[in-house]
Amino acid sequence: MELKIYKDKNEVAKEFSSYLADFVATKETVHIALSGGSTPKIVFHRLASDYAAKIDWSKIHFYWGDERCVPPTDEQSNYKMTVDHLFSKITMPEENIHRVLGENNPTGEAMRYANLLEINLDRVDGIPQFDLVILGMGDDGHTASIFPHEIALWHAEDHCVVAMHPDSGQERVSINGKVINKSKEVAFLVTGESKADKVTEIINKTGDHKSYPASLVNPESGNLVWFLDHSAASGVRGD
Ligand code: 6PG
Repeated sequence: MELKIYKDKNEVAKEFSSYLADFVATKETVHIALSGGSTPKIVFHRLASDYAAKIDWSKIHFYWGDERCVPPTDEQSNYKMTVDHLFSKITMPEENIHRVLGENNPTGEAMRYANLLEINLDRVDGIPQFDLVILGMGDDGHTASIFPHEIALWHAEDHCVVAMHPDSGQERVSINGKVINKSKEVAFLVTGESKADKVTEIINKTGDHKSYPASLVNPESGNLVWFLDHSAASGVRGD
């Protein structure tokens, strides 16, 4: 596990964008799972403004680690957020964008997406393997769309599961823990004071860390990089 701690959200976005550019530069084709949330939005802005011409976007196939079960035009859609803040600002082959069809029946879509991952990605021990999974972490310690009240979904056999937001009841399609931990690399983007307690418990393995899905992120490759700002990392020491 590597901790990269920066001054604020903007510096996290700047440094993560540089990391992503380096990650892609040395590879022919990369399959990357995106997350939703406010931190990735700032990253997408930075990528669009500073890397539109610096990254060969045709090398990248984008997927989502989780998506809300809403139409792609809905403000809640992680896909729409990515289109608005990144895809609409770069030259990207349409066929490289593999969105979760949030408008479809959740159970059927979870199955369809799981099959898509099996077809598009290399499989290791039967599990589709991403080159990079980008994750956020909620204030409650959820990651992707695996929430504490449904932490059992982390261990589901199916590559993709239907989860439910604990407050809104909104259904979501999410990849499971096996797919996340099979990824060649996992990058956590976690910023803000509201995350500090959970980050501290998870990284220091203290308190109720075992009850937070984010604490279960432990890629077999060993390549786990936390991108944190000082607010979120106030309880941990950087590398
Ligand atoms: C989602 C995200 C979710 C997000 C966390 C953190 O669909 O909402 O995938 O898991 O990463 O809620 O969100 P912030 O970056 O906004 O804190």
